[in-house]
Amino acid sequence: MKIVIAHSEEEFGKLAFAEIREVVYQDPACTLGLATGSTPIPLYKEMVKDHQENGTSYGKVRTFNLDEYVGLPKEHPESYISFMTRNLFSHVDIDMKNVNIPNGLAPDITAECARYSSLLDKVSVDVQVLGIGANGHIAFNEPGTPFDSKTHQVFLTQKTISDNARFFDSIDQVPKSALTMGIGEIMNAKKLLMLAAGSNKADAVYKMIKGPVDPSCPASILQKHPDVVIVLDRAAAAKL
Ligand code: F6R
Repeated sequence: MKIVIAHSEEEFGKLAFAEIREVVYQDPACTLGLATGSTPIPLYKEMVKDHQENGTSYGKVRTFNLDEYVGLPKEHPESYISFMTRNLFSHVDIDMKNVNIPNGLAPDITAECARYSSLLDKVSVDVQVLGIGANGHIAFNEPGTPFDSKTHQVFLTQKTISDNARFFDSIDQVPKSALTMGIGEIMNAKKLLMLAAGSNKADAVYKMIKGPVDPSCPASILQKHPDVVIVLDRAAAAKL
């Protein structure tokens, strides 16, 4: 486990991007696992900047996102496909045919989870970007989720709903459920790039790195992955 600490938001983005750049430069047809939320935004800014300044191409890159809300129209600004389009996809030369995000509007949610799982079975994600919830969740795998889980529907905890309320006009508008890649599938990626920023993540970061490997902190499973890079800001690293 490599841990790096950034001293500014810009440095945070650059340190995270250095890990992605290495993978994309080595294999322009690589597979990236992507995350939403506030934390990866500085990374996506660096990817866009580098694409504009240096012409790094995403034309052959495939992407798999971790999760999507259930029932939110794709064009809703807080759907994860909207988030990804706004922050990354519309600014680089990615072929949208190579973009994969669970479909939270699928009429048969169980079949959609099976479809996404079978896609993941057939690929090898070169690097998976992750954020961490204040309760230690990764993707929407809340505390208690088995470490070998596959893509499934989750009903969000009150803590996650209130954490995500900042993105909606009111807490009542936060979807109550989501589709998420499972922990087993996340762990199959060749490399994990965990990003955490802010003092509200300090406890979860401590448990992820120093705590027991236990489903009560889903992110603690990262201790068992052979290739993990964790980029933190000083506030998130404060309890280490
Ligand atoms: C999003 C995701 C979530 C977030 C986590 C942290 O795709 O998988 O697990 O990474 O909730 O969110 P932020 O970055 O908004 O603090």
